[in-house]
Formats: sequence, structure tokens, C-alpha cells
Amino acid sequence: MTDVHDTHADATGAELAVAEPIADPGLPEHQWRPTDVDEKAEKRAERQVAGFFAASAAFTILFLVAYFTLDIEDDWTIIAGFGASTMALGFSLGLALMCIGVGIIHWARKLMADVELVEMRHPARSSDEDREASLEALNAGLAESGIGRRPLVRNSLLGAVGLLGLPAVVMLRDLGPLPGDKLEHTIWGQGGKTVDGRKVPLMRVSRDAIGTPILASDLEIGDLVNAQPDVFWNPERYGMDEADVEGVNLQVEKAKSSLILLRMDPADIKPGKAADGSSRENWSVNGIVAYSKICTHVGCPISLNERTTHHLLCPCHQSTFDLADSGKVVFGPAGRPLPQLPLAVDDEGYLVAQSDFDEPVGPSYWERDYYDRW
Ligand code: FES
Repeated sequence: MTDVHDTHADATGAELAVAEPIADPGLPEHQWRPTDVDEKAEKRAERQVAGFFAASAAFTILFLVAYFTLDIEDDWTIIAGFGASTMALGFSLGLALMCIGVGIIHWARKLMADVELVEMRHPARSSDEDREASLEALNAGLAESGIGRRPLVRNSLLGAVGLLGLPAVVMLRDLGPLPGDKLEHTIWGQGGKTVDGRKVPLMRVSRDAIGTPILASDLEIGDLVNAQPDVFWNPERYGMDEADVEGVNLQVEKAKSSLILLRMDPADIKPGKAADGSSRENWSVNGIVAYSKICTHVGCPISLNERTTHHLLCPCHQSTFDLADSGKVVFGPAGRPLPQLPLAVDDEGYLVAQSDFDEPVGPSYWERDYYDRW
């Protein structure tokens, strides 16, 4: 609602248009709201706004109560695939924020000043000279490029640029398909299987990178070793083809099955429970325990060991796991313990996995089951 009445020069000498308010912008006559003219309506609106803010406070308190009372690990609390704790926290915090927003909108619409304002500002339009100069420059550029005279070039360019949008669309395909139960198994489970009528041996634990199978007697108390399943070096021994453990297959399997071995005083180990409720007493060999190397927070590889405490620290966000106590989280953002691999020794004294992990390795995801092991 401005009008240009005059010009003046700026610091560079260029002429600037000066805007002045228009006395009568031609708006319809102002309609007063009920809350502007009726004290009762005003008080009622005030109470409504305060009511929304009070409701927000109540939902915030509900959030705090839910946070401290609902246990995220209780299976019985699952509702439609989500834990009751997650649902209660999400709804209470969401409603608390929504009530504040609705209260502020109601306050603005019913109680805040309702007047027309004139805002002083310069016109956004460029001067006629500038517009002409820009147009001339544009036309000169177009003439130089010859785009008007060369429809073949122009059309092929338009086609190429138009097609560039397609990669963004087709790459959506990579969001699927869903992994099914692939995240729940690792190649450690290949050991002990029956393949083509032959029962293959339990999977040996080999040193990472060099592939040497590890003798239980190789490790001293305090030793920490990065390990992998022996099948990566000896696929036939476990009834697999080389193609099963090379290229992308190798990378996928390695990402899931990487292991940390640690030997400690057997007396320091507090065996927890397995997924089926049995004890993990027999999951270690002479104080040697094996855990997934993949952090249960967002999946960084872990290997920073605090030798005296048996704590393993993730370098990414400092989650700390107690390897003497079922991989329990003692610090940091990880929500779940490190999965433990049950160990044994074979006839020749080599460390082997009794079975696969009994829970999915790596970061949490919605469908992942959880069990109470303490
Ligand atoms: S990935 Fe390990 S703490 Fe975040």
C-alpha cells in the first residue's frame, strides 16, 4: 500500500524511488471481532488460550510419567508394532507441542491487535533503464549462442536436461525390497548345517584379514582379537562355493559377522541369559568371549578396549559395553547390548561358534525383537 511520489539519489548518485504511505488504501471498513467489543467474549477467548497452554503442560507431565514408568523392553506393551513406551512418549510430546501451537494461533486470532498497518518499503521493480539493459544482454546472449537458429541443438539440450530428472525417480527402487529375515542371520550359522547330505563342521573363528584359525590356547588374558568366520577362507569346508564368499556377498557377510574376541579371567564373567531363557554359562572358553563388532547404536565397528574393566568403547558416539556382563550398555546412546556369539573348541583345540548369534546384530530397527537377559 505505497505510492511513488518522489525520487532521491543514493550514496552512489543513483536515483531511488521514495515510497510514501497512501492515506486511504481502499480497504473495506474494519470489522471488529466479538473479542474486541465484548468483554465476556474476550475473557472467554483468554480462558480458551490458557486452557490450551494448561493442556500442553499436562501432556508434558504425562510424557515425563511415561518416560519413567513404561519399560521400553517389555514385550507385552507392544501396540500395533510399536512399544507402549514409544507410543506414549510420541503422543504426549506431540500433543504438548500441538497445544502450544493451537493456543498461540487462537491468541493471535482472537486477542492480539487487529488493525491494518501501512508498511513503508521501496518498490521492488527495477528501473526501466535496468530492465531494458537486462533484456538487451539476454537477447545478445541468445543471439550469440545461436539457440534460436539451431533447433537441433536446442531440442537435444531440452531432452537431455528433461531426462536428468529420471535418475532421481528410478533410484527410489533402491529403497526396496524389504530385507525379510536377512538381518536376523549371519554366516556363523552355516557351521554345523547339513549340506548335500553332509554335516559340515562348526564354524572356526579366524583372525581378521589373515584368516588363521585361532587356537583357544593362543590367547593370553587381556588379549583382544578381531575375528571373522573361517568360511571366508575355506568355503568348501562348510559346504559353500567360492562365489558365495566373494565380491558383494563377501562384503555383506563380513559386515554382519565381524567379531571381537577378548580373553579375561573366567571368574570375572557374569553369564546372562540367552534368547530362549537358558544361561550363557557355556558360551565362553577359558575366559574367552566373543561379541559382534558392530555397535548396536548406528553400526560403527568397535574395538577400543579398556583392559582392566573389560569395557569396549565405540569411537563414534562413545557407547560403552561391558564384555564381562553379556555386552550390557554401561554408557552412551546404544539401546541394546552387543550380541554375543556362543563359543566352544573343536577336537583340534580351535575356537568354533556353537551356532549363529541368537539375536540380530547391528543397529536397532522397529521389527527387531528384544528379550530381557538379566
Ligand atoms: S555407532 Fe557406536 S555409539 Fe554410535
